[in-house]
Amino acid sequence: MADAKRPVKFTETILRDAHQSLIATRMSTEQMLPIIEKMDKVGYHSVECWGGATFDACLRFLKEDPWERLRKLKAGFKNTKLQMLFRGQNILGYSHYSDDVVEYFVQKSISNGMDVIRIFDCLNDIRNLQTAVNATNKFKVQEGHGEAQVALCYTLGDAYTLDYWRNIARQIEEMGADSICIKDMAGLLVPYEAEKLVKALKEGTKLPIQLHTHYTSGVAAMTYMKAVEAGCDVVDTAMSPLSMGTSQPATEVMAKTFEGTKFDPGYDQDLLAEIAEHFKPMREEWIKSGRYSTKVMGVDINTLRYQVPGGMLSNLVSQLAEMKQEDKFDEVLREVPRVRKDFGEPPLVTPSSQIVGTQAVLNVVLGERYKQFTKESRDLLAGKYGQTVKPMNPEVQKKALGNTAPITHRPADDLEPSLAKFEEKCKQWKRQDEDVLSYALFPKVATEFFEYRDAQENGVDPTLADKTDKVYPV
Ligand code: CO
Repeated sequence: MADAKRPVKFTETILRDAHQSLIATRMSTEQMLPIIEKMDKVGYHSVECWGGATFDACLRFLKEDPWERLRKLKAGFKNTKLQMLFRGQNILGYSHYSDDVVEYFVQKSISNGMDVIRIFDCLNDIRNLQTAVNATNKFKVQEGHGEAQVALCYTLGDAYTLDYWRNIARQIEEMGADSICIKDMAGLLVPYEAEKLVKALKEGTKLPIQLHTHYTSGVAAMTYMKAVEAGCDVVDTAMSPLSMGTSQPATEVMAKTFEGTKFDPGYDQDLLAEIAEHFKPMREEWIKSGRYSTKVMGVDINTLRYQVPGGMLSNLVSQLAEMKQEDKFDEVLREVPRVRKDFGEPPLVTPSSQIVGTQAVLNVVLGERYKQFTKESRDLLAGKYGQTVKPMNPEVQKKALGNTAPITHRPADDLEPSLAKFEEKCKQWKRQDEDVLSYALFPKVATEFFEYRDAQENGVDPTLADKTDKVYPV
């Protein structure tokens, strides 16, 4: 007897992660809208199209209101769930926000059309996810749509055993999430490890398991195949014109891979080809302008060699180049895992990757370990980003903090409600409720956008246009 069908589902990333990873998030709403009617017919599990860096890029470079983009996408995607990336207590920024701001952001995301909210924390400290998960569950009832997906940052190290993944999956189910995603931002997850990982997660939870990886290290499509065979329910793919390299495996290729098997997603290849045609001329334009460069294409094998994300490696290179200490690169690479150990072995993802990398550079260049700490290193060691999986090195902590004890509670517990303050500060610019959230996340960039928006409405003020031009050459 043939196996029962178990079709794998796809989340399409071309409207978010793919262009964030390859062309610095520069796809405009205007470039998206003509094709979404067709994309809506594919039968995707969801389309990732918002959050991550799209919000900042809209305001800063494209001079678009991100909320308006969300509403337009919702109007076009009548049958497909929309998905966004949400950085836990940091929302879409880089520091912790008070709970009232996090909750209001979730509320407005859902009421403007968002369905799946993928929530992650750079330390996998699930206390930093709870407010966003609770808010999603609250507003999904009110609005009749919404889903809380918790994404775990995939990383390697002594702490990250199969038991770790099994246990954290169970905790995530208990905290009220609807699904779990493994977020392998660096492309570190190799095929046979993916098989073991998915099996372990399935032992820990009944929740659907989704896998998100990048093609950076060249193994992503094989990793998806082994993961799907092991029971993974959903994978993230990008339409071929913006696939592979630092982006995701190609949607058409993965669909074809599973065609005729029990995992067949049942997508129409002709329809996918028509959708690809829409993006191909854009790809050519971006290549021609240099926006889409060979640096993000192909395979970066150093990721697997050093088990360090590609972006982090290039940061180390440029930091050392600035100090004219390029010859210290190998030494710094050896120092990175040592610092990471001292810091509790966090996943290496923004911002923890920068914190560990910069500290490793300082330790080597100054010729003495921990002679100097960055503010971010101090904060991490003080528990201000949250709890790490392993304990931190107490001697290093003592050296950084002196007699101040690190905090052990959830960092946002120290934050007073702040929404009213943001309302007050941006009231002169406010044209819609959502503006306060744009302002709360990116005060300077949002203010410049509001000025631009006013100028557009009142007829363009040439001095302002000039200023905007200088600050942000597009
Ligand atoms: Co990604």
